[in-house]
Amino acid sequence: MALNVLVPFAKNIWTADGPPVNFNGFEYSVRMTIIQLRAGELFVHSPIYPVPEMLEQVNQLGDVKYIVSPNKIHHLYMGDWQKRYPTAKMFASPGLKRRRADLVFDGELVDYPPEDWAKEIDQLIFGGSLVMSEVVFFHHKSKTLILADLIENFERDWFKGWKNWIARKAGIVAPDGQAPLDFRLSFLGGKSKAKTSLERIKAWQPRHIIIAHGSCYKDNAMEEINRAFRWVG
Ligand SMILES: [Fe+2]
Repeated sequence: MALNVLVPFAKNIWTADGPPVNFNGFEYSVRMTIIQLRAGELFVHSPIYPVPEMLEQVNQLGDVKYIVSPNKIHHLYMGDWQKRYPTAKMFASPGLKRRRADLVFDGELVDYPPEDWAKEIDQLIFGGSLVMSEVVFFHHKSKTLILADLIENFERDWFKGWKNWIARKAGIVAPDGQAPLDFRLSFLGGKSKAKTSLERIKAWQPRHIIIAHGSCYKDNAMEEINRAFRWVG
């Protein structure tokens, strides 16, 4: 897929894939999601590096109003977006303010949506992990669930050689993409909180799932959720 190009995913949602980012020695494909809210305001989730050609596309969709990090490792280009859209509001995921003290945030994401986007997007903090709390979003109109690392689903030939072997062991290769094994293990003792979060996700009845790494799930979202989160029990 072409990089740095906005591609329609569902009604009022676009995604754009960016150049791979090195994560612990692995080249991770990365994906940004943009939701067009009423009055043409844009909600930018997990931003990729803002190249000018892509921003022309973004500007045609509306005004960048919110820049959002879903978890504390999805923050790399937030500052670059803030520079280009200084009036946009920046929202930090749990733990990110401390990690990115160089950035100015307007708010911190919590277990329910702020008034800014509550009518169109719901959210929750996926609870129970000792290391990372990911904020999960749900776009009502298109019934789309938006995840970052709670499901990673790299194409089967994305990683080569021993990295492919490790990625398989970590459970992040299609068609059985899940949260990486180390992330799943961090829920030790926190399964009941994870279960509560998962029930809330299921209650939204998502039809589609956008993820940040690997192939999204255009269909059968509920089945994919049951499959990918079977570790929750
Ligand atoms: Fe990630």
